[in-house]
Amino acid sequence: MSDVSDWWRTSIIDMAPGRIQMRGRPIEDLIGSVTLPQMIWLMTRGELPSDAEAKLLECALVAAVDHGPQAPSIAAARMAVTCGLNLNGALASAVNFLDDVHGGAGEQSVELYHEIAHCAAEGVPLEDATSRRIDVWQTEKSKYIPGFGHRFHKPRDPRAPRLLALVEDAARNGVVSGRFGAIGTAVQSYLESKAGRAVPMNIDGATAVIFAELGFAPPLARGLFCLSRSIGIVAHAWEQMEQGGRNKGPTPPDYRWTYEGENPIEQA
Ligand SMILES: CC(C)(COP(=O)(O)OP(=O)(O)OC[C@H]1O[C@@H](n2cnc3c(N)ncnc32)[C@H](O)[C@@H]1OP(=O)(O)O)[C@@H](O)C(=O)NCCC(=O)NCCS
Repeated sequence: MSDVSDWWRTSIIDMAPGRIQMRGRPIEDLIGSVTLPQMIWLMTRGELPSDAEAKLLECALVAAVDHGPQAPSIAAARMAVTCGLNLNGALASAVNFLDDVHGGAGEQSVELYHEIAHCAAEGVPLEDATSRRIDVWQTEKSKYIPGFGHRFHKPRDPRAPRLLALVEDAARNGVVSGRFGAIGTAVQSYLESKAGRAVPMNIDGATAVIFAELGFAPPLARGLFCLSRSIGIVAHAWEQMEQGGRNKGPTPPDYRWTYEGENPIEQA
């Protein structure tokens, strides 16, 4: 039967009738003794974090839950509900918006922080390692550095300094190294000096500092953000269900788009 049982191989869960074990721990022992952030860590990393590590992870998860109906993910959830979707459909639609530009940039942020860390580990001073890797990123990939810039919160996204302060606290207490906090700060300084204006660290960049400090792999940074934002998505989708709107588009119907083709209709 191994050709069948080996079809899916996992170190995450084992089951027999009446028994469920996650990462070798009976579910009844986990229930009531671990927090949700600890459970997320156990599931994705295979071991339980310390209380202090779990607390820092929780801070990042709390910070990213919502950014209001102008955030594309939240707007998608609300529009989906007005088109008749239930919570599962609204959640799935909204999470699909969390990609490189909105909510998913933490993945590339962690990658960039790692590139800078590797460069610095070779003896390059942090400022030089930062400017070097950012210049390479902007030349080879995109002028937009993931995790930085905000269309609304200028000059600062209030979530970022708070999260960075928590990282500093954790570093002082020996929970994390603090090197990714320093790297994130160096990226922000370099971007601002280069652009001559504020390019604030955003929620993806700030939570990416925490995920990198805690040793999460880059793709998990995106996965964790999706978990966090799912809370806000469900809240907004549910509120919209209770409000009961029907077939709402992105703007009220009296507002129209800019037509750039032939024969525009005269506006009244
Ligand atoms: C979020 C984002 C889409 C906002 O873009 P935006 O509305 O164009 O931002 P602004 O209008 O404030 O841009 C002002 C200037 O800062 C620059 N800038 C903005 N974000 C930047 C970034 N991440 N890296 C480098 N420069 C950036 C812009 O290029 C622009 O310069 P320009 O006028 O010379 O072209 C953009 O910052 C971005 O793509 N960031 C990376 C992806 C990311 O982190 N997404 C998560 C968002 S929460």
